[in-house]
Amino acid sequence: MNPGLSNVLEKLFKKTGYDLTGYRESTLERRVVRRLHATHSTDYPTYVQILENSPEECHFLLRDLTIRVTDFFRDWSEESLCEKIWPSLAKQNSVKIWSAGCATGEETYSLALSFDRYLKQNSLGTPYEILGTDIDEASIQFAKKGEYPKEKLKDLDISDVKNSVQFKKLDLVGETFPKDIDLVVCRNVLIYFFKELQEKVLLKFYDSLKPGGFLWLGKAESLWGDSKKLFEVVDKQTNLLKKEWK
Ligand SMILES: C[S@@+](CC[C@H](N)C(=O)[O-])C[C@H]1O[C@@H](n2cnc3c(N)ncnc32)[C@H](O)[C@@H]1O
Repeated sequence: MNPGLSNVLEKLFKKTGYDLTGYRESTLERRVVRRLHATHSTDYPTYVQILENSPEECHFLLRDLTIRVTDFFRDWSEESLCEKIWPSLAKQNSVKIWSAGCATGEETYSLALSFDRYLKQNSLGTPYEILGTDIDEASIQFAKKGEYPKEKLKDLDISDVKNSVQFKKLDLVGETFPKDIDLVVCRNVLIYFFKELQEKVLLKFYDSLKPGGFLWLGKAESLWGDSKKLFEVVDKQTNLLKKEWK
């Protein structure tokens, strides 16, 4: 890695505790250079000094490095969920879903709306909870409020599912993952990590899931290394996987 960039990441880690060294260099470099320009830093050492003295800049940098684009029902496949996931979850006594890297919560509410609709259509009352987590505190606070602009919500009404959804800050790098999950949804997050880090996180998802639990990755994401042996493909196109029974 470019030593200037590496020093920036080291300083960011010292100041915030967030370790971004496993993220893809090209994405990091582009965004750090943008912060260099924004702070009128002529080189990396000058910018490292700014990070040393400014908690505010550490915060801006962290926000720029974690990409937060999202939407309701983004890259969705209602059909796959209704055919391949919801029927098996709805049969259980209770259901726990985890939306990991949920940004401002749209994905988490979309899961709740979709499962809730499935339960109602099938006259079922299976209790369920959905946890949305993200590294970015501001996004989590926004998600908790659940107040979205009309243009984003279009005609969606999330009021009925708000009680089934919870949000908390969680860094996928290094923090303890929740347990006994029936479905982990982690889409468009791993894509920013190096393969080694992706594999580490995937193995931790495996431990989080109940036997036979499901994993939903983003379109451009896939299993790496040892994680390949631990999941079977449920739907290749949607990137839905299932934890193998061991
Ligand atoms: C592009 S958004 C994806 C949002 C949603 N999953 C979707 O597909 O629409 C990526 C999210 O991953 C979060 N993220 C990045 N690194 C993370 C980490 N180490 N731990 C937890 N979340 C992280 C970012 O803060 C951002 O909100």
